[in-house]
Amino acid sequence: MNGENMKLEIRNLHVSAEGKEIIKGLSLDINEGEFHVLMGPNGSGKTTLGKAIMGHPKLKITEGDMLVDGKSILNMKTDDRAKLGIFLLFQNPIEVDGIGFANFLHSANGAMHGNTVTTSDFLKEFKETSEKLKFSGNMAQRSLNAGFSGGEKKKGEVLQMAILKPKIAILDEPDSGLDVDAIKIVAENVNEIAKRNNTGILLITHYSRILNYMKPVFTHVMINGRIVANGGAEIIKAVESHGYEAFTK
Ligand SMILES: Nc1ncnc2c1ncn2[C@@H]1O[C@H](COP(=O)(O)OP(=O)(O)O)[C@@H](O)[C@H]1O
Ligand SMILES: [Mg+2]
Repeated sequence: MNGENMKLEIRNLHVSAEGKEIIKGLSLDINEGEFHVLMGPNGSGKTTLGKAIMGHPKLKITEGDMLVDGKSILNMKTDDRAKLGIFLLFQNPIEVDGIGFANFLHSANGAMHGNTVTTSDFLKEFKETSEKLKFSGNMAQRSLNAGFSGGEKKKGEVLQMAILKPKIAILDEPDSGLDVDAIKIVAENVNEIAKRNNTGILLITHYSRILNYMKPVFTHVMINGRIVANGGAEIIKAVESHGYEAFTK
């Protein structure tokens, strides 16, 4: 670990939406280069946590704090959090008609990294990564996510992760809606991209299937807005054999 690694600290976070408390005092630290998995049943608040980290406008932080390198990000806009190097791969990516995928990504890359990447380098990386993901060539010209299948949307998000090189990436159910072949491709590419860029990962999943291809070091179990267990691979085994029942008090 050197002093330049980004650190995201979540301290006693409470999050409400429409007057309902969803996250009820959650603490979690993620450092650049670390691989975490957050497991939990449907409705436990996992997606809300990812959105709260990105600063979703509909969510209200009622207590607690989130810090990057010791500084609170609570008053930062989503764009500025992204520029710090935090990235969220959505469970259900939105469709934006009229914005070409490659154009969008080229602008996003410029916004994040300035003019340090030339257009030809961008296009080269876009093409190489698309090929690794088996993301067909004409996707680049199509509108962002419009009419993409579930698998194509997820691959598109992984392509964004490859190009944007965030320091910490939150992957919300990257396997949802994918067939087995696509899960393997997505998982292997995320592994490779994260290794290459020393990306910290918070993998969110309610189902352990993707963990056949991804090996997180830190495991957390979230139930009803709280983390109820922290540990390593033994926790994944416990979830696989006994479900989440064993973690409910
Ligand atoms: N914008 C919202 N307004 C009201 N309730 C919400 C909102 N977003 C999420 N919730 C509720 O918060 C709970 C947690 O949802 P979510 O974070 O999507 O869980 P998970 O991703 O673990 O399945 C659910 O009961 C859900 O209905
Ligand atoms: Mg969810």
